[in-house]
Amino acid sequence: MTLLGKGFGRLDDAEVIVKQANVPVAEFEAYSADVTAYIGRDHKMFIAGEWRHAVEGKTLPVFDPATGNEHGHIPAGGPMDIDLAVDAARRAFESPEWSRMKPADRQQLMLNLADLVEKNFDELVELETRDNGKPIGESQIDVNGVAGLMRYMAGWATKIDGRTTNVSVPGDHFAYTTKEPVGVVGAIIPWNFPLGMASWKIVPALVTGCTIVLKPAEQTSLSVLRLAELAEEVGFPKGVLNVVTGTGTSAGAALASHPGIDKIAFTGSTGIGRTIAHAAADTLARVTLELGGKSPVIVLADSDTAAAAQGAAGAIFFNQGQVCTAGSRLYVHQDIYDEVIADVAAIADGIRLAPGVAPGCQMGPLISSEQQVRVEDYIDIGISEGASVATSADSKPDAGFFVRPTVLADTSDEMRVVNEEIFGPVLVAAPFKDETAVIEVANASNFGLSASIWSNDLRKVHRMVPRIRAGIVWVNTHNPVDPSLPFGGVKHSGYGRELGPEQLDAYLETKSVWMSY
Ligand code: NAI
Ligand code: MG
Repeated sequence: MTLLGKGFGRLDDAEVIVKQANVPVAEFEAYSADVTAYIGRDHKMFIAGEWRHAVEGKTLPVFDPATGNEHGHIPAGGPMDIDLAVDAARRAFESPEWSRMKPADRQQLMLNLADLVEKNFDELVELETRDNGKPIGESQIDVNGVAGLMRYMAGWATKIDGRTTNVSVPGDHFAYTTKEPVGVVGAIIPWNFPLGMASWKIVPALVTGCTIVLKPAEQTSLSVLRLAELAEEVGFPKGVLNVVTGTGTSAGAALASHPGIDKIAFTGSTGIGRTIAHAAADTLARVTLELGGKSPVIVLADSDTAAAAQGAAGAIFFNQGQVCTAGSRLYVHQDIYDEVIADVAAIADGIRLAPGVAPGCQMGPLISSEQQVRVEDYIDIGISEGASVATSADSKPDAGFFVRPTVLADTSDEMRVVNEEIFGPVLVAAPFKDETAVIEVANASNFGLSASIWSNDLRKVHRMVPRIRAGIVWVNTHNPVDPSLPFGGVKHSGYGRELGPEQLDAYLETKSVWMSY
């Protein structure tokens, strides 16, 4: 997934975002009949290669975030559906059809899936926007990123190698290692990048020869179910990919604690990450956790202030601020603080809020009324804690879960808004005196996912990078992601890395083989 951080405020419309990100521009027609029909379908889950309702027959409503109206429903899967899916994944894992499939054939299946994603690009883009709320341009970036990840990871299927070694014990021996798939993967994902996060789990699992049970977020399961249809069309063996929809407390908890799961991959809140790590302590499933963040954006005195302000705005406002790596804390050198804050606030006030499908939309609604209330509450909390509001625009659509981008300036270290993940378009900002002081505040967080530094002074940048406790440090940019570069955090932002060859380690076990002759 390629996220675009830079240049947000300069953009006139979603099309420009897409051009800057160098992805194809879809010929988009709002509310196409096909996507409307798809959203309204009697949706089923994908288990053992079959499409089925929840065993208990229950469903959950799904909402259009741009209007607040219910626009469809999904199966409310529970423990019994998870049992069926885990059984199917286990059988598929052990089937000769999958376990003995040649790496080149797994590679080809994944490349074919990338082709199908591209063939259905416009439809997936519209579906993602209508289900999640994000602007069309952002969905284009996401779907393009999904196909890109598939192509990158497909190539790894044929490059998973062990090694030979010379053991030192007396006698004649031949010893080597092989890499084997870890087994059945249980994956649980959030709603901020529904297709993106689904691909970050499905792709490494299938490329390494694992099988997977995926539970999408209950708010955004529709595009993931469509992706499962494409995987079926490509011809992955039955049971290799299973998608069970439902709530976290029912389907999610059943999956996380299932004894038949060998590895859990989770992206979401730190609180639920902790719950999942507890569940995995009992089953001894391997775990990777990609959790929350409160990432600092550090603007040094030498930086180009206009570019830094654009970058800081993009860092927090991309995807409505619903990004785990969002640059949600802005620290600006005191000499240029007033200027940069004024610029960021002006960019924020100029952002056009509209339904994601509307031409010229620069920011869509948040995902749900819960998140809207939560983010608005945080803005009130910040004001009552003594932050000053640097933004002043108040125009937004009447319906839907919209929140205006907001800059809370002159915040202090102990404020809740500075320490807690808000997960919306809310930026907190404070000045700093020197590099040592800013490193200290940047690191004074329970989170450690990402950070960005804005400066052209290489000496300062190189001195600062190793001192920042975060899994990702960007310099003069924020939020770009590439399939080749690992992604993940330290501290309460979780453990393990996704993307790049590092991700494959989490889906593989090493077997040592020793022959005496
Ligand atoms: P969440 O962490 O509750 O949900 C993420 C996924 O976990 C969903 O698929 C959900 O169904 C599942 N889940 C929930 N409870 C579960 C349980 N007990 N066992 C297994 N799976 C469970 O996040 P939520 O409630 O949607 O958002 C709340 C806050 O979490 C946000 O405001 C944000 O701060 C943070 N968050 C962070 C994300 C990130 O990418 N770092 C993504 C989503 C939310
Ligand atoms: Mg939750």
